[in-house]
Amino acid sequence: MPNLVAIVTGGGSGFGEAIAQRFAAEGARVVIADFNPGAGERVVADLRARGHAAEFCRTDVSVSADMCHLVAFAVERFGRLDVMVNNAGISHPNGPMLNVSEADFDRLYQVNVKSIYLSAVHCVPVFRRQGGGGFINIGSTAAVRPRPGLSWYNGSKGAVVLLTKSLAVELAPDKIRANAINPAIADTPLLTTFMGAPDTPENRARFLASIPLGRLCQPSDVANAAVFFADPASEFVTGTCLEVDGGRCI
Ligand SMILES: NC(=O)c1ccc[n+]([C@@H]2O[C@H](COP(=O)([O-])OP(=O)(O)OC[C@H]3O[C@@H](n4cnc5c(N)ncnc54)[C@H](O)[C@@H]3O)[C@@H](O)[C@H]2O)c1
Repeated sequence: MPNLVAIVTGGGSGFGEAIAQRFAAEGARVVIADFNPGAGERVVADLRARGHAAEFCRTDVSVSADMCHLVAFAVERFGRLDVMVNNAGISHPNGPMLNVSEADFDRLYQVNVKSIYLSAVHCVPVFRRQGGGGFINIGSTAAVRPRPGLSWYNGSKGAVVLLTKSLAVELAPDKIRANAINPAIADTPLLTTFMGAPDTPENRARFLASIPLGRLCQPSDVANAAVFFADPASEFVTGTCLEVDGGRCI
C-alpha cells in the first residue's frame, strides 16, 4: 500500500495501534487519531523511530469539530486521504442491562455510532473530490452473536455493521468502499470490561470455551484483515463485514 494515506482512530492502543503499525509496514502514511495524547504520541514516536511517516492528531471521535479538523489535518500533512479506519470504541462493563445509566448509554452511542456518521460527513467530500476512498469500521462479534450483559454495546456494534452496509451501497457510485471487521473478544485493555470480571485463568477459560479455535483474538489478526480491506487489491469488496473470531459466530 505504498503512499496510501490512512487515519486510524483509537490508534493509541489495542487494535488501532496494531492496524497503524501494519499499515505503516506496508508503506502507508498514517495519522493516529486518539482521545489520549500520551497513547497516540507514543505510537507515533515508535512509528517514526522505525522510519515511517506518522502524525498524531488529538481527536474525540464523537465531536464534529474534532473530526473536521482531523480530516483537514491528514490532507494538509499528507496531501490526500485514502482510508478512514473507524476503530475507536468503548463499552459499558459486562453486567445487567438496567445497571447502565442513561449518561453512559448516550456516551457509548456517541463514541461507537455517531463517530461513523461524523466520519462520513467529513471524509466523503474528500473521497468524492479524489475519485474514491474507503472506510474500515471495527464492529464486533457482539453485532452478530450477542453475549448477555453487553446489550447496549451489542446494539451499538449492530449499528456499525448496518451502517457499513448502508455506506457501501449508497457510496458505491462514488467508488467509495465501506467494510467492517468483527473481532472476537481480544487481549487488549478492553478485555476486563467485556468479561465484567478480573482477568483470571478461570474467567479466561470461560470465554475461550466459546471460541472454537481456542484462543482470544490478537490485535495482529484484526490488523491483517484491515490490510486486506485497505489494499487496492480488494477494490471489488465492499459492504463486507468480516468475522475475525476463531469461529465464534459459526
Ligand atoms: N477488545 C476486544 O475484545 C474487542 C472485540 C471486538 C471489537 N472491539 C472493538 O475494537 C475497537 C478497539 O478496541 P480495543 O480493544 O483496541 O480498545 P482499546 O481500549 O485498547 O483502545 C481504544 C483506543 O480508543 C481511544 N478512544 C476511546 N474513546 C475515544 C474517543 N471518543 N475518541 C478518540 N479516541 C478514543 C482510546 O484512548 C484508546 O487508545 C473498539 O471499537 C472495540 O469496541 C474490541
